[in-house]
Amino acid sequence: MSADDLSSHRALADHYGQLATQAPTSLDAFWMPFSANRQFKAAPRLLASASGMYYKDVEGREILDATAGLWCCNAGHARPRIVEAVRKQIETLDFAPNFQMSSPLPFVLAERLAELTPGNLNHVFFTNSGSESVDSALKIAIAYHRARGEGQRTRLIGREKGYHGVGFGGISVGGLPNNRKWFGPGLPGVDHLRHTLDIGRNAFSKGLPEYGIELAEDLERMVALHDASTIAAVIIEPISGSAGVVIPPQGYLQRIREICDKYGIVLIFDEVITGFGRIGDAFGAQRFGVTPDIITAAKGITNGCIPMGAVFLSDAIHDAFMQGPDNAIDLFHGYTYSGHPMACAAALATLDTYAEENLFQRARDLEGYWQSGIHSLRGLPNVIDIRNYGLIGAIELAPRPGAPGARAYDAFVHAFHHGGLLTRVTGDVIALSPPLIAEKKHIDRIFEALADALRASA
Ligand SMILES: Cc1ncc(COP(=O)(O)O)c(C=O)c1O
Repeated sequence: MSADDLSSHRALADHYGQLATQAPTSLDAFWMPFSANRQFKAAPRLLASASGMYYKDVEGREILDATAGLWCCNAGHARPRIVEAVRKQIETLDFAPNFQMSSPLPFVLAERLAELTPGNLNHVFFTNSGSESVDSALKIAIAYHRARGEGQRTRLIGREKGYHGVGFGGISVGGLPNNRKWFGPGLPGVDHLRHTLDIGRNAFSKGLPEYGIELAEDLERMVALHDASTIAAVIIEPISGSAGVVIPPQGYLQRIREICDKYGIVLIFDEVITGFGRIGDAFGAQRFGVTPDIITAAKGITNGCIPMGAVFLSDAIHDAFMQGPDNAIDLFHGYTYSGHPMACAAALATLDTYAEENLFQRARDLEGYWQSGIHSLRGLPNVIDIRNYGLIGAIELAPRPGAPGARAYDAFVHAFHHGGLLTRVTGDVIALSPPLIAEKKHIDRIFEALADALRASA
């Protein structure tokens, strides 16, 4: 590079660096997702940079990340391997199509991922997000039955309080009223199991709650009502995050698996948040000892730095599509960016980082300390439940009369401005999911700052 080139290179880097780290002149045009836009824009919270366990905001304040971004930066921020892999990839191959063409990395990555998945989930379909993974999985489940001559199996069963992203498939099987009621009737032929949150019987459970295995029998009720011959798939999150962290009762997931086996129903685990170490194993499936037929994933697959999702499929499901002539397209589904080379590079370096630092095991080793820390908040004003598993935690607050969600939101804002802490709220639940590189000192700080915030928002 000549001196002129170098100085223009630096000028460009400075220019884009400044845009990314200074408060923007206007906040009007960006319609923020899942946000109270007017409230936010009146008092914005803008993150400018990140490293390890910390963000910095545009004022240069350090913010401890207790949510791994949005459940995705499991290895913490700006990890050198990932930065380098992405930098190298954009210089080498910025894009390659994957329809009837490809490049090396999606194949390399798929093999690596197949080593991490449980059982015979040996096949990987790439997407760009959790929502796309879910809609892809639902379509594949229906098409699988058709491919083996049971095309009448089209019904999908989700669960109340489930969150499966925002596509029409995902909101149809999802069970959060606000995400459904605005958008019409959704897919036909969908039903929902009862949810398993039971604060009355299970409040302040440590780990898996004791009561509620019988709720799995709700699937028998669905079969009795609709007949198994019409049901394609059941989709559930092993642990739901967006509904405010709902941990499965002991034995519940095993029982759902048994009932699916009994009736030939495809079981889909939506592991968009439980995948990649969050609960101390590659997937929740391994931690719970229950192998589904399909797993949906995203977020931690690239440590959050480049959008990517994946659907992991059993041999049986994949092979059912490989029966026609060799020159026939086997699945009429895919995205322009399925297996994008940048995302593949980020994912490979992410998997290497997880392995090198043994982060899945680290999550499990920290689980006891995390559990003691979060349960130390019991007895603080308005705390009606505390739930935890792996490096996930939730504190549920009694809502303010007539203002659901306001108390938890105030605690979140207080923790951010006064405690230098990033948390996440859904309704009156404060949800926590720190990067798996957290140290005990970070965990201590998270719960100190939260205790202050809970007192302040009483
Ligand atoms: C279980 C689950 N499924 C799907 C999604 C949707 O993922 P995305 O926002 O990447 O579309 C999420 C996001 O939080 C999730 O938690």
